[in-house]
Amino acid sequence: GVMKELLGLRDLEAKLRSRLGVKEAIVVPGDSDAFTWVKRELGRACIARMKEAVKPHDVIAVMGGTTLAAVAEMMTPDPNMETVTFVPARGGLGEQVENQANTISAQMAGKAGANYKLLHVPDQLSEETYASLIAEPGVRDILEKIKSASMVIHGIGEANTMALRRGSSEEFLHKLTEEQVVAEAFGYYFDKKGTVRYKQRTIGLQLDTLDDSKLVISVAGGASKAEAISAYMNYRPSDVLITDEEAAKRLLSM
Ligand code: G3H
Repeated sequence: GVMKELLGLRDLEAKLRSRLGVKEAIVVPGDSDAFTWVKRELGRACIARMKEAVKPHDVIAVMGGTTLAAVAEMMTPDPNMETVTFVPARGGLGEQVENQANTISAQMAGKAGANYKLLHVPDQLSEETYASLIAEPGVRDILEKIKSASMVIHGIGEANTMALRRGSSEEFLHKLTEEQVVAEAFGYYFDKKGTVRYKQRTIGLQLDTLDDSKLVISVAGGASKAEAISAYMNYRPSDVLITDEEAAKRLLSM
């Protein structure tokens, strides 16, 4: 029955907390690998958690990906968000426009009735171009805003899937396999132990600046992401993990 199902999910949440060291785990029923509506359920849970935590004038930094796009899809108008500003957490990472952090941030703001700011950074830039771009006053302003974020919402990807989707070279894909790199988040690639192995060059939030002043919410589901979620949490356990039943079960059986 429904009660038993709920108890099962609460049990998974408790086990995830102790296994991963996250402060809070929220598990929705199903498997987002198999059904896209489960991704929207992750989205719904994420929006509810964001609304619980939001304060007036907050800055909320969001990353990209299909899961974050599903989160944006589930956003609804909220008077508590009128003074909130959404920003992308980092610059371009080689995603299609609908999966880019800029797009998702603008969409969340549009649906919530909040504000947003864009970060215009092309994907493949040289060191020198980055350096001069960061010096631009307009870019500096938004980078300050991003740093001041009190909430950060991001997805976690399986490393190979992400590298393929972002058009990485054969050589890079080969390295990922060779070095057992299994997770991707924020444009950083992690091995099983949670060590950062590669970092895509872009500006915005650097992972080592995710201090305790920010509420970090990770949203990732599907059994195929179990290993990636575990690897990323070895790097830094999030405040909140929002995942689905199948990812949780696979992770806990590893
Ligand atoms: O960084 C992680 C990825 O953005 C996750 O992408 O939600 O499409 O699996 P996804």
